Amino acid sequence: MNFGKLLSYEKDGNLVRFHFEKMDGRIEVITDNILNVFAGFVSDAHRSKAIEGNKAAAAKFSVKEEEGAVSVSTAAVTAKVFDGFLVDFYRADGTVLCRDYRGERTPIVRASEEMKKLLEAEGHAAEEEGDGGFAVCKQMEGDEAFYGLGDKTGFLNKRGYEYVMWNTDDPAPQMDNFKSLYKSIPFFITLRSDAVFGLFFDNPYRTVFDMGKESDAYYHYGAQNGNLDYYLIAGNSMPEVIGGYTYLTGTTPLPQKWTLGYQQCRWSYMSREEVEGVAKKMRECGIPCDAIHLDIDYMDGYRVFTWNPDRFGQAEEMIAGLQKDGFKIVTIMDPGVKRDPGYPVYDTGVEKGYFATTPAGEVYVNAVWPGDAVYPDFGNQEVRDWWGQNQKFLLDKGVRGVWNDMNEPASFRGELPQDVVFTDEDEKADHARMHNLYGHNMAKATYRGLRELDGRRPFVITRACYAGTQKYSTAWTGDNHSIWAHLQMAIPQLCNLGLSGMAFVGTDVGGFGSDCTKELLCRWVEVGCFSPLFRNHSAMGTRYQEPWRFDGETIEIYRKAVELRYHLIPYYYDLFFQGEKTGMPIMRPLVLHYEKDRTARSLNSEFMVGDRLLAAPVVNQGEREKMVYLPAGKWYDYWTGEEMEGGRYILRDAPLDLCPLYVKAGTILPVWQKQRYVNEIDNDSTLFLEVFPGEGQWDHFQDNGEDFTYRDGAYNQYRCSLDADNVLRVECVHNGYEKKYGRVNVRCMGRTAEAVLENGSCRILF
Ligand code: GLC
Repeated sequence: MNFGKLLSYEKDGNLVRFHFEKMDGRIEVITDNILNVFAGFVSDAHRSKAIEGNKAAAAKFSVKEEEGAVSVSTAAVTAKVFDGFLVDFYRADGTVLCRDYRGERTPIVRASEEMKKLLEAEGHAAEEEGDGGFAVCKQMEGDEAFYGLGDKTGFLNKRGYEYVMWNTDDPAPQMDNFKSLYKSIPFFITLRSDAVFGLFFDNPYRTVFDMGKESDAYYHYGAQNGNLDYYLIAGNSMPEVIGGYTYLTGTTPLPQKWTLGYQQCRWSYMSREEVEGVAKKMRECGIPCDAIHLDIDYMDGYRVFTWNPDRFGQAEEMIAGLQKDGFKIVTIMDPGVKRDPGYPVYDTGVEKGYFATTPAGEVYVNAVWPGDAVYPDFGNQEVRDWWGQNQKFLLDKGVRGVWNDMNEPASFRGELPQDVVFTDEDEKADHARMHNLYGHNMAKATYRGLRELDGRRPFVITRACYAGTQKYSTAWTGDNHSIWAHLQMAIPQLCNLGLSGMAFVGTDVGGFGSDCTKELLCRWVEVGCFSPLFRNHSAMGTRYQEPWRFDGETIEIYRKAVELRYHLIPYYYDLFFQGEKTGMPIMRPLVLHYEKDRTARSLNSEFMVGDRLLAAPVVNQGEREKMVYLPAGKWYDYWTGEEMEGGRYILRDAPLDLCPLYVKAGTILPVWQKQRYVNEIDNDSTLFLEVFPGEGQWDHFQDNGEDFTYRDGAYNQYRCSLDADNVLRVECVHNGYEKKYGRVNVRCMGRTAEAVLENGSCRILF
């Protein structure tokens, strides 16, 4: 980037415009904590797909000249702008947040000069490093740890690694050296002992993030194309930074309650009989279950919005029958439309110009499951509306959730060329610009369509994402394998997705590719039962991995984990209710709540659910004991009730049927009684609470669990508080939902007590 000297600047509303010798740049004040740095290399507007609406609040700020720089200061942050559009950020108390790096970059040496000469002499050019485009290079100030960046492989702390944001469907087993996966979320949180902040580089082109791999002196992010457009998000803590990021890009909306239940999938259950058989077996084994997913074979020749008439005849009847027994049906939906003249979806799309084209204007054809296929142009509002309306086909059959797959977009005949023509709202744009947005726009189209047609909270699952997709969809981590390394990866991967705004996420429990073993499945369900999206899925040709495919013990262990999940659903639901306001994820790395604890910074095999529960699953073959790190404070072993002091490692027995689980002192957990599916029994008469001694408070929500009326106040909010003398008070602080608990039942360390709620309040001594 070559801006040259700073010549002049002026204030313009919430912007400060800077005029450099060669180019202009600007700083935009969004809120006290959020500043945007922008230079319009290709357009003057953000054209953001992640941020919708104008987020710039009327924050007060001042501009002044000092020591060769112009500073823009809000109450919380100062940006100092120098020649060359170098920008340094400070907190109001003067602490450095981050500064642009002024030194020489030192690219990694991959071949000696002699080697390069030799290669050249033999006609092979040595591969050169280089991002192309432009990069922002920040100085490493000290003990930075980096979190976020979406679904990248590897470990929790991203320091020392390099990643590429380019949505990628690579079926090979994903290991730590993978640079890209299905999602591109160009946001990360930097944590140092003296500071925390987030950086969101809102550029949908292929971007590269080097988190200190090239050098320990700096880290950088850059793009091949597009604008310099990034947000510095300050805050006093990681939760505040996440609050800032999700203020910009949106939070995960409260889901329908049943979507928190267990879901069973396989590529594919091939017929009505097979699906009904799976449902029956679930009930026979006593394993709670709320949904069965239909993979691509429910369609007629892989044509989207069709239904196989032979193997899945009378779909409505099948779905209604399953529904009576508490099962919902979720269907897969790929973007690729079969090239098949005479097939209405294809014909309409061609006629209306809804598919991506070659630069010469021909409909672009590649291949996915149906063979030759064309790609809906989701960047076009009209195409999104059309796609949204098409969901009616599924809703009419009784389908309750739509699983969007292959939307990187995937292609079997090589990647789509960069110049394939798509639409970016009001203008044409190439694949290079729209690639990372494809899944996002498909999810948005699906969500909007379902919302309009159905009125219930849409349940969409997507594989590909960009920043902000959380507003429209849940996500799963794609095609993992039944290998221990992928169970281990699941924890940091889901935690980093959560820190990147994606609160409703999960992995394929048991692993998708390769053959699962009994032990791996048992350990995986002990992680999966805590992940927000809880689905077992496996690939065609692999060993079947429903729990009964193994032995009786597996069924027992599986049931125990799934029952624990159902027990905790009210707690999960409360977390989602809060998360819609705060942006906080459900599954959290310990560092999110224990920033100052250096051990918590890189714990890869433990996590928290909310800020009350700590799960420490076994993720190694053969292990029957687990080293558990408990942060400072008083904890209870969930299984034995034993009280323990944190701030240390403990060694916990962890037989195959047990995932070590700890609860913070003073916790009030809303729980459910046993049920085989969500709301099989009446959950609205008695509020069941599980309490762990100490002082604490919890807000519990009650609503119909299905539609959007809670946004108009149709919910109850119960404030529960616990004091040191084992007195629990419950008070209804918001009453907007017609049903109301009549009783409160408290269980604490084996003792129970019950009380009647009078005028929404009660006091229980237990
Ligand atoms: C992709 C999906 C996988 C699905 C398969 C067949 O590989 O990631 O979940 O089962 O396609 O549709």
